[in-house]
Amino acid sequence: MSRRDLALDLGTANTLVFQGDRGILYNEPTLVAVNPRNSEALGAGREALGLAAADAGRVVASRPLRRGVISDFDLTMQMIRLILRSVGVGRLMRPRVLACVPTHSTEVERRAVEEAVVAAGARSAFLVDQPLAAAVGAGLPIHEPVGSFVVDVGGGTTEMAVLAMGGVVTSKAIPVGGFDMDAVIQHHVRSRHGVAIGENAAERIKIELGSAYPTAHPAAVEVKGRNMTNGMPTYVILTPEEIREALAEPVGAIAAATRDCLAESPPELAHDGERHRFPPSASLLIPAGTPGTPTDSPACTRADGRPPWPPW
Ligand SMILES: Nc1ncnc2c1ncn2[C@@H]1O[C@H](COP(=O)(O)OP(=O)(O)OP(=O)(O)O)[C@@H](O)[C@H]1O
Ligand SMILES: [Mg+2]
Repeated sequence: MSRRDLALDLGTANTLVFQGDRGILYNEPTLVAVNPRNSEALGAGREALGLAAADAGRVVASRPLRRGVISDFDLTMQMIRLILRSVGVGRLMRPRVLACVPTHSTEVERRAVEEAVVAAGARSAFLVDQPLAAAVGAGLPIHEPVGSFVVDVGGGTTEMAVLAMGGVVTSKAIPVGGFDMDAVIQHHVRSRHGVAIGENAAERIKIELGSAYPTAHPAAVEVKGRNMTNGMPTYVILTPEEIREALAEPVGAIAAATRDCLAESPPELAHDGERHRFPPSASLLIPAGTPGTPTDSPACTRADGRPPWPPW
């Protein structure tokens, strides 16, 4: 890549744009504000939320990707165009764009990303598998003949791969991510406490309180919601234990996929992953601010009953 080229991480939850010598130029939610009458995109990212809030009757904020895949081509293309424009791409500057895609995307899905990026103003588009991009970003020695293991827990998908010699050796993707964790927390609070909470509140609880493994984590958190019986605003106190219990299903699915992926890898490479202590990048499972993270990571590795870090 030349210094002018851009890298694009078009995620279900967040979109990032990176340029070699300028770093991260854009990092905002994958959202686009749309005028539903003519499907025109009016703004992207946080601006989209503001536009929809200011004119709720006529503007809706929409997520144009589902589980890592473009679900609305035209809106995605318009969103990328707005994003590229916001980082200075115009008629005079038409960079090449390297976009990452889920390893298991189909040819049609890959072509959709390429076409959307070019239609949005790029000179050309190149694709790279997400775990490879994640490994490069994390500084793993992927070009060496040792195995590296990456687990990328996103909003709508979790992708993991064993990498060696610059390529993907084994990979696995499951349609489980942070959004599913938010959903099980919402469900838990509704069924256990009879209180409805919004997606944003659930996400905050996940980040402040969520864990996959018992941690020396602080106190309970109070959250505001709506009493399901009388419709009145109310407060409910949630403990780390009950949130861990609520998260057990998505976390368990990630742990199981992690074990499967390692089991399918050539034994010598899977063992490298252990030796080099690359725990699943479990930032999703780590309550923000937990002392010593990521080494205190409760992570998937601990789901097999081994003691927490350093486990290998
Ligand atoms: N500290 C944290 N603890 C727990 N979850 C977090 C934390 N920070 C971010 N998340 C969650 O990570 C998810 C977004 O991750 P990311 O931006 O990698 O997704 P994405 O790349 O857009 O999605 P995908 O890869 O599935 O297409 C959200 O669900 C968010 O709540
Ligand atoms: Mg992602």
